[in-house]
Amino acid sequence: MSEFKLLLLANPELSFIKENISKTDLNRLINWFNKYCTNNKFNKDQIIEIFIWLFTEARRVADYNNPEFDENFEKKAEEFGIEKNNLITMFFYHNNVLEDEGFIRKPEMHSIDNKRGSFIVFEGLDGSGKSSQINELSKKLRAIGKMVSVTAEPTNGATGGLIRDTLSNNYKRNATELAALFLADRISHNLNPMNGIQKFLNEGINVICDRYYYSSFAYQGVEADMKWIMESNLNCKHITKPDLCIFLDVDVNQCKERVDQERASLEIFESNYEIMAKVRQSFFEVFRILKDSEKIEIIDANKSFSNVSEEIFKKVIHLL
Ligand code: TYD
Repeated sequence: MSEFKLLLLANPELSFIKENISKTDLNRLINWFNKYCTNNKFNKDQIIEIFIWLFTEARRVADYNNPEFDENFEKKAEEFGIEKNNLITMFFYHNNVLEDEGFIRKPEMHSIDNKRGSFIVFEGLDGSGKSSQINELSKKLRAIGKMVSVTAEPTNGATGGLIRDTLSNNYKRNATELAALFLADRISHNLNPMNGIQKFLNEGINVICDRYYYSSFAYQGVEADMKWIMESNLNCKHITKPDLCIFLDVDVNQCKERVDQERASLEIFESNYEIMAKVRQSFFEVFRILKDSEKIEIIDANKSFSNVSEEIFKKVIHLL
């Protein structure tokens, strides 16, 4: 067995790589690496070293928004003698290239027909059952061979963290400031080169997102200037317009009961019935304003779980 194969197999993180790498494949891999290294041609051992790093350590610090990402690549690029930007390009593309070249099995989630994915957003009051319905829909879609990535806002990124501090009432911010944070979080959610909405859609993967700009319009629009919030989101070219928004409409009393039962501690918008009722009204105002420009389906989600889930499936399936 070649040294290259041994290295790959010895590393559990690389176990998904096919065991039978032919000499021609290895040469193609070497060519690919050297394409990015104009100043420096690497020998096989050096390439293996870089390759292993890209697949292991680099992946562990893969949060593009973390300053450590940059520092890490800078340090390694110097060590390897590659330009930092080339190393970053290699990092972002190594998966695609390795799949195309047949080194790794294409994951199940992979577009066959190069069609852009569909972007579906779920909205509703807290406690309206969005997460369970999203879960059910993604299961059904995957079962019929559709590729689905599920995501949510606020995100788990750094800006999402600032937002959660406010939602949990640990750090007070006014509604305009909060709307601006949601806007920033949404831009990064769209553009993140690792797991951003646009990356998935371009790869032909359907994206289901738990909340999006409609929540900013409805929640922050109660206290801040709704027109400004709408314009800043809708006119931002980095914020992808959803193909469909599904609003799960559940009686406010029922939502309040559910959050009281399910949450260990309540977030600011879950704290009382009046706020939730106001937000529901605000959602309807938003949908009235957007009725000609966005595709919005309001679903009566007071019905049984399976009835609601069937209705959702019917609305979604003809899009994909
Ligand atoms: P939620 O879906 O309830 O997340 P979790 O189940 O993790 O608590 O969303 C968190 C809260 O954020 C919710 O009360 C609505 C609020 N929110 C806004 O106020 N504006 C926004 O733009 C978004 C996306 C969410």
